[in-house]
Amino acid sequence: MRLDIITLFPELIESPFNASIIKRAKEFGLVKIFFHNPRDFSSNKFKQVDDYQYGGGAGMVMMIEPIVKCIKSLQSKRNYDQIIYLTPDGETLNQSTANRLSNTTNLILLCGHYKGVDQRIRDNFITQEISIGDFVLSGGELAAAVLCDSIVRLLPGVISDGSSALSDSFQDGILAPPIYTRPAEYEGMSVPAILLSGNTPKIEEWREKKSIELTKKLRPDLLDD
Ligand code: ADE
Repeated sequence: MRLDIITLFPELIESPFNASIIKRAKEFGLVKIFFHNPRDFSSNKFKQVDDYQYGGGAGMVMMIEPIVKCIKSLQSKRNYDQIIYLTPDGETLNQSTANRLSNTTNLILLCGHYKGVDQRIRDNFITQEISIGDFVLSGGELAAAVLCDSIVRLLPGVISDGSSALSDSFQDGILAPPIYTRPAEYEGMSVPAILLSGNTPKIEEWREKKSIELTKKLRPDLLDD
């Protein structure tokens, strides 16, 4: 998989890609991540990338030209499955979107900054708009990092025990059951005995029961579907 991230501030998201699971995915050659700065595509002598909004109002808008040039230069080299804009008014990211995107080959992620990007970019170039929740970040960079992480960890071979990602919360549409590790007893707090029993069918039954209980308690909306 190849991820091309268009951002004015690559330094905001470089570090999450250089540690842990994404780092390993890069080292295994399972994902390639590139950053592109619209400033490098500005024909303006001051390398201007943002301007005041037409009609007045506070906040700068990212200009159409540098972003379109950047997108077109990427598209001239390969086909992209989606050109995604990270924005609070996009569809809310969930596990099924992450699953779907993990089956693609090439993605462009556009990070807005300041007030956002010129609407003509959204109308004519963007194929999917994604939000990571109903709150406003300073820019799309952290949202892009969240999206990339949710996708890359699902790529075959990235997580050493492939079944691990399948047992995550949301993967079956419900929350994951509680998990424990050694010691079995710590200052009077014990691990549920069933998990120490070695009885795999019973353990699976217990986990499913706990998952449903937890989902009913914490996220009953997930059971509505
Ligand atoms: N940019 C600013 N806020 C955002 C959010 N909540 N999700 C995605 N991109 C954003």
